[in-house]
Order: sequence, then C-alpha cells, then structure tokens
Amino acid sequence: MAESVTITDNRTGESIEIPIVNGGVDATQWSKLLPGMWFYDPSFGTTAAASSAITYLDGDEGVLRYRGYPIEQLAEKSTYLEVAYLLVHGELPTTEQYEAWKHEITYHTYIHEHVRKRFIEGFHYDAHPMGMLVSSIAALSTFYPEAKEIDDPAIRMKQIVRLIAKLPTLAAGAHRYSKGMPFVYPDNGLDFQTNFLSMMFRVAEDRYECDPRLTRALDILFILHADHEQNCSTTAARVVGSSQADPYSSMAAAAAALYGPLHGGANEAVLRMLQDIGSYDNIDDFIASVKAGKGRLMGFGHRVYKSYDPRAKIIKNAAYEVFEVTGKNPLLDIALKLEETALNDEYFVSRKLYPNVDFYSGLIYEAMGFPVEMFTVLFAIPRVSGWLSHWQEMLEQNSRIARPRQLYIGAPERDYVAMNARS
Ligand code: ACO
Repeated sequence: MAESVTITDNRTGESIEIPIVNGGVDATQWSKLLPGMWFYDPSFGTTAAASSAITYLDGDEGVLRYRGYPIEQLAEKSTYLEVAYLLVHGELPTTEQYEAWKHEITYHTYIHEHVRKRFIEGFHYDAHPMGMLVSSIAALSTFYPEAKEIDDPAIRMKQIVRLIAKLPTLAAGAHRYSKGMPFVYPDNGLDFQTNFLSMMFRVAEDRYECDPRLTRALDILFILHADHEQNCSTTAARVVGSSQADPYSSMAAAAAALYGPLHGGANEAVLRMLQDIGSYDNIDDFIASVKAGKGRLMGFGHRVYKSYDPRAKIIKNAAYEVFEVTGKNPLLDIALKLEETALNDEYFVSRKLYPNVDFYSGLIYEAMGFPVEMFTVLFAIPRVSGWLSHWQEMLEQNSRIARPRQLYIGAPERDYVAMNARS
C-alpha cells in the first residue's frame, strides 16, 4: 500500500501524488498542482501548522507525553522545574544540570521595582489579575531590550529563565495588589512552589510554611499544565514569535489567548458554574439548559481529546489528597454528580464530551485558598515553559512568518460614493 495521497484537478485531469510524512501531507506539493487555491480550514481543525518534537497527544486514546515521557509518570515522579527543563532542553537533566537550572530559576525571580511600582500598582484596584499578568509580561520587554536578539541562543536562554522564574512573582504581585496586601519579595531559600505560595499568602510570620501535600499537589498541577502542543495560546506564541518579536511580547500574546473562557479561562468558568448550580437539585435543569443550547458545560469537551483527558484523571485523584488537608470543597459533590449525569447522557456521549483538565483543577485551587480570578493565572505560570519551548523550536526551525490565506467573500469592486449621495 502506497503511503501517499493522489489529488486530481477534475477541471484539467492533472494529478499529483503527495507522500504522507509523519501523518501529514506537505501543502507546498498541493499548491504546485493548485496555485492560488487555498485549503479552507478556519480554526485550523485539520491543519498541522508546525512539526514539533515537544509534546505527543493522541486524543482518541487519551495519551499525552512530553518529549516521549508519559504524563502519568511525570506527574508521579517528577517536579515542575524538572519538567520545564525537559520541555526547554529536550532531555531530562542530570543532577548537576538540575541543580544549576534550579539555581538559575531561583536567582531570577525578582522583578524590577518599576515593574511592581509603575505597572502592577498602576492598575485599578479591582483589575483582573490575568489582565495585569498579560500586560506586565509585555512590559518586561522594555526592561530587557537585549531580548530582541532572538538569534543568539545564550540571550534566548536568559529570557527563558527569566520568564519561567518571574511569572510567579508577577502573578503573586497582582494578587497582593488586588487584595491591598503588601508585596512579598521572593525568598531564595524556598523551593519554587513554596516560594510562590509565600509570595501569595504570607502575612506576618517569619517564614512561610506549608503542608508538603499542598505544595506537591500544586507541583502536579503545574506539571499537567506545562504544555499541550499546538493549543490556542501556544499557536499565538508561535504566530507572534514568527514575526521575530521579542519573547516577552510573544509570551504576552500567548497569555492573552489563554485568558479566554474557551481556553485557560475555563477553570474560572467551571467554578462559577458550580457556584451558580449551587445544589444537587439544580443539576438536571442545568444539563437540560446546556442541551437546549443555553451555554456550555464548562470543563467538558476538547478539540483534540475525544475520550477522558488523561490530565483530568490525575487531577481528580490529586483533589482527594488536597481535601485531606483542607477539608472537602463543598462543590466537589456537585462536580461529581454533574460529571456522572453528563457521562450518562446521550447528548454528551454522542459528541464525545468528557471532563477536561479544568473540570477539577479549580476545586483544588479554591480549597487551597486561591481566589477564583487567579485560576487562569495559575495555568499561565507553568504553561509559559511550554510556550517558550515552542517559541525556541520555531526559531530553531527558521520558520517563515505565519501568514494564512483567506477565501474572500466580500463585495466585488465598486466605486466610492460621496457621502451626500448615499441613501
Ligand atoms: N458543553 C455542551 N456542548 C458542548 C460542549 C460543552 N462543554 N463542548 C462542545 N459541545 C458541543 C457543541 O455545541 C457541538 O454540538 P453540535 O454538534 O450539536 O453543534 C459539539 O459539541 C462540538 O463542539 P465544537 O464547539 O465544534 O467543539 P470544539 O472542538 O470547537 O470546542 C471546546 C472545543 C472549545 C473546548 C469546547 O468543547 C468547549 O467550549 N468546552 C467548554 C470550555 C472548556 O472547558 N474549555 C477548556 C478546554 S481545555 C483547555 O483549553 C485547557
């Protein structure tokens, strides 16, 4: 059997045979036969916009691997910082490499005082922390003008470290400001997760301490959110980066894409949905309203997964461990019942709609004391390592500027009409 497809232009009878490589066909071959005829694929549902060696995803089988390593093994045995190294460098670190990486990240957590005083504190008191994060990531580009030297691998790596290290500081700064709490500086003696929680929640204690089960749960959530191949925000990073914008501008674009409720904003939307449902008795009415087209069951469905999202399974288990420390989130029972109802309902079954990564993550975050507005920010903190890995890969592939075509459906040529002659 030939590993190829043949396309025939029925207008001319001409054909072209295109080999199937890595599960895809090369569009440049297609355009040789059909110059000026575009492949119509709004939302890129069937377009491979890149070749990538970072993350493997099989949506039918529910498989997710970073650099070949199954997500289940990474969630059980690794740490977020090790996973970030793996994504960025392509291999797991040796002990020396890991220690050096941790040191680098730890020593780049501080932000310039002007970022805090002029940007973070310049926002209105009730600004959404995700809006603050998007803007302050973009603002960082003005503090590191050398970041424009994107062809220099050492300068690139410096910005990668800075971004991974500074996102928790920016995130916690946004939270503290919105609560009217004083900014907490990073503490280099703490590990990545505890340092973040300290910057978020420390009040007057000498040193912030946290139950290791909670920091481990947060670490697992960060591992699960670190990358997910060509999702909306990663695509935004690659597209903006393809214009050779500096990494801070590209990451701000990615964070902006993540903000939307159909993407990273879903975890916040899930919590609000569960709060609105409020009790068991309202679940059937809520499901009926979703089926009638009045809103979506947030945290359900995925463009790629057509079975249970493997990340959702891991998160569901992590949730129980967190609740052992914090006490059960009262919304858990509603979430479990909602899931059971949906998974037995023909509407959801026939559309292959299963819980995604965000169905349970918000319950954990809320139980840990994070306000709902911070949920998408909590997604962005680890996802920046995925965005940066893709940004770097895209540059190393000497990618051309992203520039899709369109099918024009507007008016044909017509003459300008003076305003007083328009009806
Ligand atoms: N609730 C109810 N119906 C849904 C849902 C949902 N959550 N998701 C999809 N559907 C229905 C659609 O209405 C459509 O039905 P139809 O065929 O009768 O018109 C069918 O399922 C297919 O849906 P599409 O919108 O074509 O699926 P798409 O791949 O474009 O969307 C998405 C994927 C955006 C994730 C969608 O499932 C959704 O909106 N889910 C809720 C938001 C969410 O949880 N987002 C987080 C995704 S994971 C992440 O980004 C981290």
